[in-house]
Amino acid sequence: MPNMFTFKANRYTDAFAEHGYVHIPGGLSEEFHVQLVKYVQDSFEQKHLKDFARGDKQQAMFEFLEPEHYDELREAVATITGVEVSSLTLSERHIKEYEPGADPYPLAHKDRFGSEVSVAFRLEIQDRPRDVQMFLGNAMWHLREHGAGTTVLYLKLNTYNCDTLGEDPHTAEIRQTTLSMVDTPSTNWPASIPVIARRVDYIHQRYSRDWSELFGVVIYGQPHATITDREFELLRWMDGQRTVAEISKQMKQSDKGADVQEAIRLLAQRGIVDLLTEPIAMGKIRGKVVTEAV
Ligand SMILES: [Fe+2]
Repeated sequence: MPNMFTFKANRYTDAFAEHGYVHIPGGLSEEFHVQLVKYVQDSFEQKHLKDFARGDKQQAMFEFLEPEHYDELREAVATITGVEVSSLTLSERHIKEYEPGADPYPLAHKDRFGSEVSVAFRLEIQDRPRDVQMFLGNAMWHLREHGAGTTVLYLKLNTYNCDTLGEDPHTAEIRQTTLSMVDTPSTNWPASIPVIARRVDYIHQRYSRDWSELFGVVIYGQPHATITDREFELLRWMDGQRTVAEISKQMKQSDKGADVQEAIRLLAQRGIVDLLTEPIAMGKIRGKVVTEAV
């Protein structure tokens, strides 16, 4: 199986830091491109995401041709954006076919939150096949002009431990590890780093019929799950760096420390918090780029 990329990622680190995007002409290897085009042709029909069909483009889920390709992608994105590989979560892997009548000048948009870094592979394009584009998807306004009749593979990554749709091959394993950490008393889980769980879509505040205010967490596709004010505060402390023990200590200083570890354990069991063994960058990519186009 060939490598996906032809380029040396470290050659693009400075450009990304300066502009927030890079365009890498011919960045996909010819062999990989041939296999990808074949894959798209063979499988597009079965993998349509009907719920995601929007406007004048159709989407299908992309399966990595080899597990190593996922690692290669993360390593390239980590090098170009200047974060550790372990900070990166994949949040989307969709192939989009722009229909023949697609609007040549669609409205500019920003991608969803989990698309901190969007990577686009251009396929089957007459003028410039195999180009790779990488940009700050959720921060920069962007659009694809003259998309009609083209096919693009979009891979979206972030440093927030965010995989709302459950498309990262490691997401199930992170959940399993979290559950075994909190369920096994012998593990040193206070040294772990609690973060908002991958499948959490959003956290909100809402009113009951008697006008009492409630905080809630919505895991993708699931109903509102109420959390207490204190649990909300705990989530706010989770910055991808602090351990369970450190958050517990901070809360004690503000006189709210009782049973913090137990509260985090319950949040983890409910699927609201994941426990990591290494810190994550949490939004540092966006912070690094000076010329953000917002
Ligand atoms: Fe987009």
